[in-house]
Amino acid sequence: MEEYPDDRVLIWRRSFPGLAEHVRQAREFAGFLLADLPRVDDTVLVVSEFAANALRHTASSRPGGRYLLEVRRWRDGASVALTDEGSHKIPRVPEPDDLSECGRGLQTVNALATEWHWSGDRRGRTFTAAFLIRSHAVLVSAISPAEVFGRNAGLCDVLLTPDSA
Ligand SMILES: Nc1ncnc2c1ncn2[C@@H]1O[C@H](COP(=O)(O)OP(=O)(O)O)[C@@H](O)[C@H]1O
Ligand SMILES: [Mg+2]
Repeated sequence: MEEYPDDRVLIWRRSFPGLAEHVRQAREFAGFLLADLPRVDDTVLVVSEFAANALRHTASSRPGGRYLLEVRRWRDGASVALTDEGSHKIPRVPEPDDLSECGRGLQTVNALATEWHWSGDRRGRTFTAAFLIRSHAVLVSAISPAEVFGRNAGLCDVLLTPDSA
């Protein structure tokens, strides 16, 4: 994976027409920018759900409507944020046993993202999902070769001070 050497945050934004045939472009935009992220598939799926909701539930799907997608990338993670043109509906995550017509979009977001939230009101809402990279290897401390092999270990002496052998 590419290394991000400092604490900079890279930010990209692009708006998309509120039409179903443009959702693929939004997915590709995030997928391209986050291609080196181990969880890129999850981020693209979340973009799909946010975009589907913007089209299904908000004014972004009216003629001329749009939504804005912002992608952020930093050393330990990434986020995607979609801003729509508002709705009188209130976002809610259905309970798992809710058998209503409601889909599973926000439940999916809830399951995949490290954190997510929404803000705004009926004039426009922003849905943000963050994905943190968790490393499996943890650097506990830096220790010297002598500590690893032990002071009196013959192999250590040979390796570290061949002249004294
Ligand atoms: N962008 C949004 N603006 C306002 N309400 C929303 C938005 N997205 C989702 N909602 C509300 O939250 C509910 C749950 O969304 P979701 O889990 O994606 O299911 P679905 O889209 O299939 O109804 C929706 O039914 C809708 O009432
Ligand atoms: Mg949905």
